[in-house]
Amino acid sequence: MTPAAPPLMTDTDDVRASPRAAPRQELLESQLAALFEVSSVLSRSLDLSETLREVLEVLHQRGRMCKGMVSLVDRETGDLLVSALHDNEVEPLRSVRYQPGEGVIGRILERNQPWIVERLADEPRFLDRLGFYDPKLPFIGVPIRMGEEGVVGVIAAQPPHLDDPIDRRARFLEMVANLIGQAVRLAHMVEDERRELKEERDKLRREVRGDHGFKSIIGHTDTMRLVFEQVRQVAKWNTTVLIRGESGTGKELVANAIHYNSPRARNAFVRLNCAALPDNLLESELFGHEKGAFTGAVAQRKGRFEQADGGTLFLDEIGEISAAFQAKLLRVLQEGEFERVGGTRTQKVDVRVIAATNRDLEAELKAGVFREDLYYRLNVMPIFIPSLADRIEDVPDLARFLVAKIGKQQGRELRVTDSAVRVLMRHNWPGNVRELENCLERAAVMSEEGVIDRDVIEMAGLNVSAVMGSPPMAPATEVRSTDLEDPDLDERERVIAALEEAGWVQAKAARLLNMTPRQIAYRIQTLKINVRQY
Ligand SMILES: Nc1ncnc2c1ncn2[C@@H]1O[C@H](COP(=O)(O)OP(=O)(O)O)[C@@H](O)[C@H]1O
Ligand SMILES: [Mg+2]
Repeated sequence: MTPAAPPLMTDTDDVRASPRAAPRQELLESQLAALFEVSSVLSRSLDLSETLREVLEVLHQRGRMCKGMVSLVDRETGDLLVSALHDNEVEPLRSVRYQPGEGVIGRILERNQPWIVERLADEPRFLDRLGFYDPKLPFIGVPIRMGEEGVVGVIAAQPPHLDDPIDRRARFLEMVANLIGQAVRLAHMVEDERRELKEERDKLRREVRGDHGFKSIIGHTDTMRLVFEQVRQVAKWNTTVLIRGESGTGKELVANAIHYNSPRARNAFVRLNCAALPDNLLESELFGHEKGAFTGAVAQRKGRFEQADGGTLFLDEIGEISAAFQAKLLRVLQEGEFERVGGTRTQKVDVRVIAATNRDLEAELKAGVFREDLYYRLNVMPIFIPSLADRIEDVPDLARFLVAKIGKQQGRELRVTDSAVRVLMRHNWPGNVRELENCLERAAVMSEEGVIDRDVIEMAGLNVSAVMGSPPMAPATEVRSTDLEDPDLDERERVIAALEEAGWVQAKAARLLNMTPRQIAYRIQTLKINVRQY
């Protein structure tokens, strides 16, 4: 089967002059062609097992090397895994592993040295795990090296006849191995980078979900629980949602929660504030425009509807749009179709719409300001967010949550005292949660130590004396009273808490603290507790 090997040739033989030069020349040329093809195969794709198989095919067709096999080190276990075999009938066996030092292939890896035999059958260490090689043929195995990381695999093959000294055939296989080593290095780099990017992406995704999930919406009153329940239900579907509520109640937060808990969460959440733009700009913002559609349209631009394709479009302040624009919006909501400004081609998109308004749309319907058909298109699933004054019991949790959020932004620990929280609960918050957040942010800025107490709140612009007189709006049970025995409580907070509990009657507060009226008066003075106005 194997033709007799031609007589060996030495490096000093003059290739051109020798009468045996012709076959040698031919071999060299076909090896060169093979190397060229191997390098282009390897640069074509990063899918190693696919390209390695192609490399073995090139070796077979052009390189006069059959029975090719590539094993690469598994980066996790350090074992050699068969990555590619040149034989269509034998599928690369993932289960065939060599430990370093095991069998011929394992030894090549361990010693980082080529291994060459003229007849495989003569080698007792050969394991023949694959049942793949021809025992009558020579065998060449060389390490695949990758720069400083050393050996990363082994390539082996069998020359069907020895038409050249076997170590010259081995040199050729080493060149191929070097090319493979470069490709493996590149594949590792790409794989590492991809994994890092993926981890980063997953981390960011978790963060975004956390920032926009239910955890970021505080509220335990019944009305807020109903909101959560509605969000959870409606998130699953593509239903259009209309979020109602006063300014600052958290409409945008709820829109975010719907999107990030919906099947569209991986796609874009695009917001447009309809109140911020005049009609013509609103139109090009929403629908995009073609190049040259109007002065300044220097390039074609995608509108928000296109940007939100596959995701969610949040139309904030929908109650502010003009009658003309209401008609345009109605068409896209009804047909899911529109044209870019200055364009003729009809665009189709898959967008879930969430709208929000603080207006009394029903009154505007009656007054003929808001189109009835658009109202019904939007109002498929209304969600009403109660104003903060109607859920003042949520203020303590909200205050602590917002203070933690502000602390994170400022990069320091912030704390809000119970007495401060009680003051906050007596305000009626016409600006809702946004007003509360702004008030706490101002307080945080003014608090050097990072403790927000009632004085800081007052300095932040909340008129404590004005609200002190009014009865608490929440049921008394909701107002957390401070434990006067709490050892962590500082002296000032303790005195304030006692005074609050005693309705600012000093003698009564003194009794709560086991003090004399003189002692408490002295404390009030030295701790600079402001009692004048009460
Ligand atoms: N229930 C809530 N829990 C935590 N933060 C809230 C809540 N409601 C509103 N906020 C915060 O208050 C601010 C105003 O909310 P936003 O959603 O913009 O209100 P709206 O869109 O109704 O005017 C935002 O910073 C938001 O994070
Ligand atoms: Mg808003």
